[in-house]
Amino acid sequence: MEDTVVPSPVIKVAAICGSIRKASTNRGLIRSAIEICEESVKGMQIELIDVSPLPMINTDLEVEGRFPPAVEEFRQKVLAADSILFASPEYNYSVPPPLKNAIDWASRPPNVWADKAAAIVSSAGGSGGRRAQHHLRQIGVFVDLHFINKPEFSVNVHELPKKFDSEGNLVDPKTKEKLKQVLQALQRFTLRLQGR
Ligand SMILES: Cc1cc2nc3c(=O)[nH]c(=O)nc-3n(C[C@H](O)[C@H](O)[C@H](O)COP(=O)(O)O)c2cc1C
Repeated sequence: MEDTVVPSPVIKVAAICGSIRKASTNRGLIRSAIEICEESVKGMQIELIDVSPLPMINTDLEVEGRFPPAVEEFRQKVLAADSILFASPEYNYSVPPPLKNAIDWASRPPNVWADKAAAIVSSAGGSGGRRAQHHLRQIGVFVDLHFINKPEFSVNVHELPKKFDSEGNLVDPKTKEKLKQVLQALQRFTLRLQGR
């Protein structure tokens, strides 16, 4: 069902991908989410925020309360967002380093994640990334992110028929429909959290 009530102002979503691989399937999920939003989730806009320029977390790089330029830029984009869409693989049962690094930089005082709504989607090996999702939720407790609980969304990249093409584009219509439901839930929860 198309959303008939268009929230004003538009909800801005920062999408963060835990994989920096060229053909990342998780970045494919974000590309698909952007398309779905443009077509059928009115009142919400998703922007992919690249975490690959961020240096490895090191507080020596903070000088007189200033962060390195790439970190400042990232933190400003997170701060300006109403909510966050995480799309991440699982590495060794947890969140991958590029994602943890990004979370850590944006958590430095003042923590720019605070009070934002968030959703997690994942594409990974056998587990589909569910264990990484749980770790991300745990991290969210400390940085004051508020995750939607349902619908749960994870894709096992090995499962046939394949849900992604060789460039990491999501090609499976049923998975796209599930992704749309996640986005609609994030939109509703963001409005609730903001008292709109
Ligand atoms: C170092 C490393 C550890 C991994 N550990 C897991 C794991 O614990 N569970 C899992 O389901 N997949 C695991 N994988 C597989 C990735 O989650 C999978 O390749 C995923 O599709 C990568 O996401 P991407 O396509 O967005 O890069 C691991 C991959 C790497 C490189």
